[in-house]
Amino acid sequence: MRHFTSVNDIGNLDVALKEAFELKKDVFRYDALGKNKTLLAIFFDSSLRTRLSTQKAALNLGMNAIVLDVNQGAWKLETGRGVIMDGDKPEHILEAIPVMGSYCDIIGLRSFARFENKQDDYEEKILNQFIQYSGKPVFSMEAATRHPLQSFADLITIEEYRKTERPKIVLTWAPHPRSLPQAVPNSFAEWINATDYELVITHPEGYELDKRFTGKAKIEYNQDKAFEGADFIYAKNWAAYNDPNYGKILSKDRAWTVDSRKMALTNNAYFMHCLPVRRNMIVTDEVIESPQSIVIPEAANRVISAQVVLKRLLTDNYD
Ligand code: CP
Repeated sequence: MRHFTSVNDIGNLDVALKEAFELKKDVFRYDALGKNKTLLAIFFDSSLRTRLSTQKAALNLGMNAIVLDVNQGAWKLETGRGVIMDGDKPEHILEAIPVMGSYCDIIGLRSFARFENKQDDYEEKILNQFIQYSGKPVFSMEAATRHPLQSFADLITIEEYRKTERPKIVLTWAPHPRSLPQAVPNSFAEWINATDYELVITHPEGYELDKRFTGKAKIEYNQDKAFEGADFIYAKNWAAYNDPNYGKILSKDRAWTVDSRKMALTNNAYFMHCLPVRRNMIVTDEVIESPQSIVIPEAANRVISAQVVLKRLLTDNYD
């Protein structure tokens, strides 16, 4: 694996999951693999879980880890070519990227959708510039359209908790006060579609996701109906994808909040969310604090998904 940006880079999912469970049994088994190798984790956007779990994964592998918060202390970066740089951005990303690459062996990048230009977002302009110009293996720590480390951790968690061969997994939109990218739901759909599990996506009309990600999933506009018989409920907000509403909030209807009445329609489903979560917007206190809520083990598995990815990047590029 040269870079990691989507499920397509991980290869056979059964093999990747086996590797994850082996690593989970002994996270220090490969603690010599990263000796004298440096991870540079670059954040254009805020993070708690990704920041900590990715550094922990690197440390478990014996790597050094440097974290750069681009918007706190670094020079503001211009990203457009041909721009006359007479504004407030003193450095161009096309110099900054190879400089950053020269200080490390592997780059992790977080750069969300900006909702300024749908084409730039969906072409993953920033992520691809890092891949093109850094000279180093790059992995996504959530880019404009996908959050593959999260989705891999989600799948590891589903494997740990599923009670049936082919669980019914429901991805449900839920309300949020701010406009959020589609990266988590896109990526979750893409990873679950790579299994043979049943995936149902439920959301209000107007919140349809890009079909390239939702693929064979069933789209159900009636949330109650979608929840019937579900084994896992995965809640997430996202802003509208389709034009002319790209990046807009179309609804904050709390009738879509995941509550105990809706959970009672399921097959005693587990509740999942990538976190951070807005309580009593996305999910009620009662549901997220219930025994069926697995958001904490789900977040803990972020170390394991990152460690599998870093281990492969180290092995395939430096071993
Ligand atoms: N789920 C997730 O990526 O969390 P952070 O945004 O805190 O990293």
